[in-house]
Amino acid sequence: MSKNFYITTPIYYPSGKPHMGHAYSSIVADIFARFKRIEKYEVLFLTGTDEHGQKIQKEAKKNNKDPKIFCDELSDNFRSLTKKLNLSNDDFIRTTETRHYESVIGIWNRLIDSGDIYLGKYSGWYSVSDEAFYEKDEIEDKDGNKVSKSSGSRVEWLEEESYFFKLSIWGDRLLEFYKNNPDFILPSSRKNEVVKFVEKGLKDLSISRTSFSWGIPVPKNNKHVIYVWLDALTNYISALNFPDVTNTKFKNFWPADLHIIGKDILRFHAIFWPAFLLAAKLSPPKRVFGHGWILSDDKKMSKSLGNILDPIEIINKYGVDQLRYYLVKEVSLGNDGSISMDNLKNCINSDLANNYGNLCQRVFSFIKKNCNNKIPENTNLNKKDKNLLDNLINNLPHLIKLMNNQNLNEYIKVVLSFSFEANKYFNDSEPWTEKKKNHKRMEAILFTIIQQIKNISILLNPIVPDATKKVLTTLNFPSKNINFDSIKNMNNLNHKIELNNLEILFRKIEDDN
Ligand code: MSP
Repeated sequence: MSKNFYITTPIYYPSGKPHMGHAYSSIVADIFARFKRIEKYEVLFLTGTDEHGQKIQKEAKKNNKDPKIFCDELSDNFRSLTKKLNLSNDDFIRTTETRHYESVIGIWNRLIDSGDIYLGKYSGWYSVSDEAFYEKDEIEDKDGNKVSKSSGSRVEWLEEESYFFKLSIWGDRLLEFYKNNPDFILPSSRKNEVVKFVEKGLKDLSISRTSFSWGIPVPKNNKHVIYVWLDALTNYISALNFPDVTNTKFKNFWPADLHIIGKDILRFHAIFWPAFLLAAKLSPPKRVFGHGWILSDDKKMSKSLGNILDPIEIINKYGVDQLRYYLVKEVSLGNDGSISMDNLKNCINSDLANNYGNLCQRVFSFIKKNCNNKIPENTNLNKKDKNLLDNLINNLPHLIKLMNNQNLNEYIKVVLSFSFEANKYFNDSEPWTEKKKNHKRMEAILFTIIQQIKNISILLNPIVPDATKKVLTTLNFPSKNINFDSIKNMNNLNHKIELNNLEILFRKIEDDN
């Protein structure tokens, strides 16, 4: 089995400031990327910005800027966000790069060669904000405007010459593909929506526009620019040096293992994208996971409601691990979920500060005081010690399965329960009493609890990378050993050198903060 793993985020429109929704997609993808590295996979994790199309051109014009200069400035905000969120992405792609241009021309030519493109005339509804075409039954009247029922954004009537992709002939092939690959679309509730939509019958898709110029020109007919979604989706193979399909990157990483996206863009990823690829004689990705919507106090975040929670502000105030943990603990991955500052504080205090943070702090200070700040060496473990360690080790296959099914919430629950159990074990074992009674016993307890702290830290590392790294550094444990083999190995801590100082992990948030 190949040990390569390719994971992507959506590429973001850089037309405004990055918000919580962008942060969420990116954090989720980062957690899976980091987890696969712990599983010792060769991981390629891609993110980037989606810079062509009418929406960006309009926005640039509003700001009196040339679209490329406008994108250069705004794309940088998203690049900085990757640092701010502590993403471990291996690449950051911009659709204005040459490598992407070549790749889009490459896929276009393949679709021409396969006979899947023809020239015609489009007339119908279009939303610039969603960069999407809508059918009559997908729009409604609202306050005197026509809007999309699903996104609420305004649509306008379009009539222009357009190239079309013969999507209509791919319906049966897509249904067969979904059937043969039952986990292609997750969660399965979303899969049902997609299947129903395809079963209704697909119409050919307009894939070029003539009423503006900000995009990749259609080869041999530069009156047209290529539809921004065909352009954008292709980013996932541009990063693998497509159209060269013989290079190692493409060979090792395509088809992608996992596209993490929001539910709003499922149709593009689960219908258009595999159809384009099948027509271009390329494999579709292995999985598309559509996560839910982040709500603020149960409502969609919007400027007019004044309920926008800014990821950067939260990170500056409380820390990046705190935001990462809170978002994925609180919001059930496939569903919509509400976030609020009150819940954030409770979650940081109870799970991070009082549970994992407190466990590390109290054990390390006990060792400093009572063992010359060195981890005691003692393999004389009793049943209770072994049970504590074995329970975690025996759960590893289950935990791997959870993560490979993107069951992130359950994973966190299980790992957190280990931390809770470890705190309880430390209390119940009373090393402070054993210190006077039976020094060897105290050493066995400390040996055990330190092993467990190491193991929990490895398991939590994909979610809270900074804090767990601090803990592992305190243990003189090298970052390169953060993997599952190290969990099973009880001989990989140094007992001869002193522990490093543990920096504060999570400050407790007081009410007025
Ligand atoms: N450019 C396209 C994606 C092209 S991928 C080939 C796009 N960009 S976007 O900037 O509008 O948003 C991208 C993603 O941000 C959404 O799919 C979703 O993943 C995320 N979110 C935006 N707002 C969100 C919430 N309020 N909640 C959760 N995620 C949402 O669409």
